[in-house]
Amino acid sequence: MSNLMDKAVEAIGKGGYGTALTGAGISAESGIPTYRDPGNLYDQYDQGKQGGMLGVLMTNPEKAPEILSTFFNKLQEAKPNTGHIGLVELEKMGLLKSVITQNVDGLHRLAGNSKVLELHGSIYRMLCTVCGIKKQMEQNDLFAIADEIPNKLGTITSITEIMTGILPPCSCGGPQRFDFVSFGESVQELNEAVLDVTSCSWMLIVGTSGVVHPAATLPTYAKNNDAFLIEINPKESDLTSQCDIFLKGSAGQVVPELVNALKKAGVGNK
Ligand code: OAD
Repeated sequence: MSNLMDKAVEAIGKGGYGTALTGAGISAESGIPTYRDPGNLYDQYDQGKQGGMLGVLMTNPEKAPEILSTFFNKLQEAKPNTGHIGLVELEKMGLLKSVITQNVDGLHRLAGNSKVLELHGSIYRMLCTVCGIKKQMEQNDLFAIADEIPNKLGTITSITEIMTGILPPCSCGGPQRFDFVSFGESVQELNEAVLDVTSCSWMLIVGTSGVVHPAATLPTYAKNNDAFLIEINPKESDLTSQCDIFLKGSAGQVVPELVNALKKAGVGNK
């Protein structure tokens, strides 16, 4: 590992800026389970035709209130871990320009990264399905709403019910849904993400299986523009073969190790 870490430090030390692409794995040590690891949501439940979390809820309607309540309870307890905090350090050191995440859990913002591109949206935003206005939610408001899930959702019969049956109506009277992206919908902030990855010198890919596009295409864009790709994951992903370096291990352990190695080598602002 130390030889690989040295190579990562050398690549980052060459200058330019970096971007990070993150997935559910970076939040695993904050207590939020990933989707595809053994025993987790997609391993446990059929996703049906719709696919994703909504597919699971539709295919297993009797389990939907329990699945959603468990998800919100874990979210409520979750705090940024040393992996998230390491990415904030990289930004403070003047090395990391942006964090591009597939996560909807808001932990990168909470940790303190200033440019977080949330490709799959955020669970902390509501979107009015009539007037299109988006509203940020306070954590406490979201969790007060989430507490009502078992009462509000009986046996789910439609996607509309899942999306709008939980949230209060908009001031225009229209039903509001969570502003997260489900399968078949367009991702958010993609243009900005593409701009960053096509002009970065290095990219850190942390905790994603790399199977969901277009997020999983971003490393290819970076690579085609000569960026150096560093992956951090306890196991190989669909992106590993494209990466220049694979740092095997958990985000909470390896991201801080990288930060320390960079500091020791005098790379970045103190
Ligand atoms: P996955 O569940 O597909 O993959 C999680 C990845 O995290 C795997 O590669 C694990 O090996 C890795 N991992 C597990 N623990 C880790 C740790 N402590 N540190 C670092 N890595 C760890 O999650 P995503 O790749 O994020 O989309 O999934 C992509 C998208 O599929 C999600 O955004 C979601 C889902 O359906 C939508 O909901 C639209």
